[in-house]
Amino acid sequence: MSELTEERFRERAEAPGNDAGDGTSAAAGGSISVQPDEFHHARDIGELEKVFELESLSVSYAGVPAVKEVSMDIYKNEVTALIGPSGCGKSTLIRCLNRMNDLVPTAEVTGRLLYHGEDLYGPKVDPVQVRKLIGMVFQKPNPFPKSIYENVAFGPRILGMKGDMDEIVEKALRGAALWDEVKDRLDSNAFGMSGGQQQRLCIARCIAVEPDVILMDEPCSALDPISTGKIEDLMMELKREFSIVIVTHNMQQAARVSDRTAFLMVELDATEQNRWGRIVEYDATEKIFTNPGDPRTEDYVSGKVG
Ligand SMILES: Nc1ncnc2c1ncn2[C@@H]1O[C@H](COP(=O)(O)OP(=O)(O)OP(=O)(O)O)[C@@H](O)[C@H]1O
Ligand SMILES: [Mg+2]
Repeated sequence: MSELTEERFRERAEAPGNDAGDGTSAAAGGSISVQPDEFHHARDIGELEKVFELESLSVSYAGVPAVKEVSMDIYKNEVTALIGPSGCGKSTLIRCLNRMNDLVPTAEVTGRLLYHGEDLYGPKVDPVQVRKLIGMVFQKPNPFPKSIYENVAFGPRILGMKGDMDEIVEKALRGAALWDEVKDRLDSNAFGMSGGQQQRLCIARCIAVEPDVILMDEPCSALDPISTGKIEDLMMELKREFSIVIVTHNMQQAARVSDRTAFLMVELDATEQNRWGRIVEYDATEKIFTNPGDPRTEDYVSGKVG
């Protein structure tokens, strides 16, 4: 956590083009203010372990396609960003990765999705176990109406995790960079925390059950720049232990935190009545933001189109 200084957050907050995480920079921001040496240099994919392999994955709702034929590999200990305009299927796609779409009765997933080489949608896979291994943090912090301690202890208790519960709770809160702020009020209701603290509590709740992957769907869009900076720094720490997939509308954030970025766009059929999302380009984040292979990516990341 050496980088977690207030000064640094303020720098971030005041950086030109930082949209305070409110999800508007893609269309409005213009060029990205991340300096070339600030990009993560994504390692050669030959060196990396695949966590997910998506093979022509499509999702429809009540027969209407939402996202079509997505093929991409997601790597261990990386932050993978999904970007693209509203409605292009980012949430739909990220929800496939822990079978959250199972909870939508009209959703149908086709194609293949391998998780560490195993079919995630195979008949023997238990979706509850999947959601333990592949946790999710949502746009709006959603703590339970319980104490800070109970929010974190809930998952480990349900799962019957062995070990001292106080230690499990402390470890998760430390992991979410929240311990120092809450250690003297663990019995207070979580609703009394700030939004940024609540979001870190949700991250603590997620990591308490020792997942393998953390999915984050616009985790900072309800947060101020300082809280956003804290979550971004946290992601840098968390990726040492976990693999992270994040959906964000904030181009600065994708450029700053991710190793690899997938850009999706809405595609229309000839009648222009039917639309669905499709991957335009997926590559190292540095390449996507500095030298994309597709002009549509360039237009989007430079803010020419929203
Ligand atoms: N539960 C649902 N039932 C029916 N259609 C849905 C459902 N969820 C999403 N869709 C449709 O799927 C398409 C993709 O939506 P999705 O929410 O995945 O987009 P998104 O890229 O996350 O958008 P945003 O940036 O606004 O969050 C849209 O046309 C949307 O209306
Ligand atoms: Mg969404």
